Amino acid sequence: MSRDEQLRRAAYEEMEKHKDVVEKDPYRLHYHLMPTVGLLNDPNGFIQFKGTYHVYYQWMPFKTGHGAKFWGHYSSNDFVNWTHEEIALTPSEWYEKNGCYSGSAIEHDGKIYAYYTGNVKDEEGNRETYQCLAISEESLHFDKRGPVVHLPDGFTAHFRDPKVWEQDGAFFMVVGAQTRELKGAVALFRSDDLENWDYQGVLTGGGEGRLADFGYMFECPDLFPLGERDILIFSPQGIEASGMKYQNVYQAGYVAGQFDSATGTFEHGEFEELDRGFDFYAPQTTLDDKGRRILFAWMSVPDQNEQDHPTIEHKWLHTMTLPRELKLVDGKVRQVPLEEMEDLRVGPAIQVNVELNRETRVLKAVKGKAFEMEITDLSMTEGWFDLTVGDGIRFVYSSGEQTVTLERKSYVNGVVEKRQCSVKQLNSLRVFVDTSSIEVFVNEGEETFTARFYPSPNNDTVRFETSHQAVFTIRKWDLKHVNLK
Ligand code: FRU
Repeated sequence: MSRDEQLRRAAYEEMEKHKDVVEKDPYRLHYHLMPTVGLLNDPNGFIQFKGTYHVYYQWMPFKTGHGAKFWGHYSSNDFVNWTHEEIALTPSEWYEKNGCYSGSAIEHDGKIYAYYTGNVKDEEGNRETYQCLAISEESLHFDKRGPVVHLPDGFTAHFRDPKVWEQDGAFFMVVGAQTRELKGAVALFRSDDLENWDYQGVLTGGGEGRLADFGYMFECPDLFPLGERDILIFSPQGIEASGMKYQNVYQAGYVAGQFDSATGTFEHGEFEELDRGFDFYAPQTTLDDKGRRILFAWMSVPDQNEQDHPTIEHKWLHTMTLPRELKLVDGKVRQVPLEEMEDLRVGPAIQVNVELNRETRVLKAVKGKAFEMEITDLSMTEGWFDLTVGDGIRFVYSSGEQTVTLERKSYVNGVVEKRQCSVKQLNSLRVFVDTSSIEVFVNEGEETFTARFYPSPNNDTVRFETSHQAVFTIRKWDLKHVNLK
């Protein structure tokens, strides 16, 4: 039996063995992408291919921890109903034996060209890294071509997560990197044929320019045009918390600017966080045939209490965010739930006009474990307004401080922790609650907050509270329990 075959069998056996215990978890989500067993992390190879959307993902089938990753695979025609496809990549070859790490996909000649990082570690923990190519005719089976990019001079082996695109008659690749001086960087490559790649230099970071002193490693870069700008998304590590910013262990965000494909240079502005919640990392985008720039992110942050999630008892860990469409408004990236998320709604909206006066209220009609809630026409002159979902999470808008805050009861020790950012005025909220996750879109995606939380299974209430007077309209929908086939 080939090594690939052995690994596949072992992973499927693990899945079979723990199926019942995984499915019995009350915190299993209803409409998000999760692993069948083990740990899921970054979205990979996100592409629309021959009409169908494909999301591959980092997968460790054998434990709820990190290690020699596989590429798992989900596909969908509508972003609501997903098919769990067979394993796309196993870490079977010498150049990837410690993991088929993150990467991307591009369509060429009617085939999928997938680029990913082959991660290799020896007994002493020394690391090697190879950027590898695998080609698929139909999205399911990949023909591995092995390493196509070797480590250029000047970098450590923390060099990974290739993202490839086509522009102005050539192909480009950005790779997340760390320089020998231990500075985070994005490296740029160029190719005419998708097989031979030339190193072009550091695109940004690496101890120079605006991101000269911005952490020790940039993971998962993604460069694409949005509106009149070019956006570089990446996940920097080693940034100190500062005021309301950078509160998670690692960050995920972007810089906006102008990429010049002729010179391989990128002029850009300041780093902005993409999400202000607790759990959002390694986002990846694709462009679909409707011209939409769509993003998925991993709903977690590496090394941030990963081993304390209660789902570990049930042999699985982590989920993806909902798919979101990106828009550029006033030079800033906004995220809105993909239009298809409306197809998750079951039945008509429940609409309630609420007037609160220095009081707390639980609305009978607004409750559930998996629902969407929209708050509009908010009018309040002073003080704060909040909503608490279950007994685990609270969202607060303070008109006096001009802030929005997400508070959760830590799943590690029950202590309340918070994430916060400035918002001049709250006009609208769209909130997606799943059994153990929340995604809040503030003012049509001006800011978003993404988090896991673990409410008591018997508490499905939503409680509203206001310090003064607040008037608003709520529309609420129950959302489908999608069976991941
Ligand atoms: C980001 C990341 C990537 C790497 C992958 C390994 O979460 O660390 O840099 O390719 O996860 O699973």
